[in-house]
Amino acid sequence: TVGNSTNIKWHECPVEKVDRQRLLDQKGCVIWVTGLSGSGKSTLACALNQMLYQKGKLCYILDGDNVRHGLNRDLSFKAEDRAENIRRVGEVAKLFADAGIICIASLISPYRRDRDTCRTLLPEGDFIEVFMDVPLEVCEARDPKGLYKLARAGKIKGFTGIDDPYEAPLNCEILSFFASISYLTYVLVFCHVKIALGHEG
Ligand code: PPS
Repeated sequence: TVGNSTNIKWHECPVEKVDRQRLLDQKGCVIWVTGLSGSGKSTLACALNQMLYQKGKLCYILDGDNVRHGLNRDLSFKAEDRAENIRRVGEVAKLFADAGIICIASLISPYRRDRDTCRTLLPEGDFIEVFMDVPLEVCEARDPKGLYKLARAGKIKGFTGIDDPYEAPLNCEILSFFASISYLTYVLVFCHVKIALGHEG
């Protein structure tokens, strides 16, 4: 039995991940960017995508806000729906990595358990967790969408960091505050080494 289904079998195809990776000359992996709203996740994801693109690497961004317009439009912000949001994006990210693509997932993903479950979907080393370690006060001062203001006024309930939890990673690969271009370069180099490493397998 797989999930709720019985009588289903995995189908193998002779063209495998390693072949696609060779074709693309890169390593499929997942760069998971987590942090509070306004911490710079999408900005980092975009900059990283742009820099890797310029180096001839194929990336695709799964952004929380965007995915919630389609695939996850049925999900709210209560804990179980956030968990389902992360589960689905984790599974899609795994498919992208299997396709040989560098998948940058950028979601608040406030629960450690949900992120750790996504990590277990990928081979060791192929899940790079980047924590946007920006204090709540800074995110709130930025308030790019005016959502913190609404949350403080009680007009949005269950807003992460205000009246909903955020569990910081304990063992992430990269801590980022995205304050400078040199830091972005560091993130890029780290990811690039990982990505370049294994296109043999
Ligand atoms: S989660 O927690 O991972 O399921 O969230 P995510 O899919 O990344 O979506 C976060 C964006 O949704 C907007 N938004 C909220 N965020 C947090 N809490 C509440 N209640 C909420 N309601 C709406 C917000 O714009 C988030 O965007 P970012 O890009 O993180 O600022």
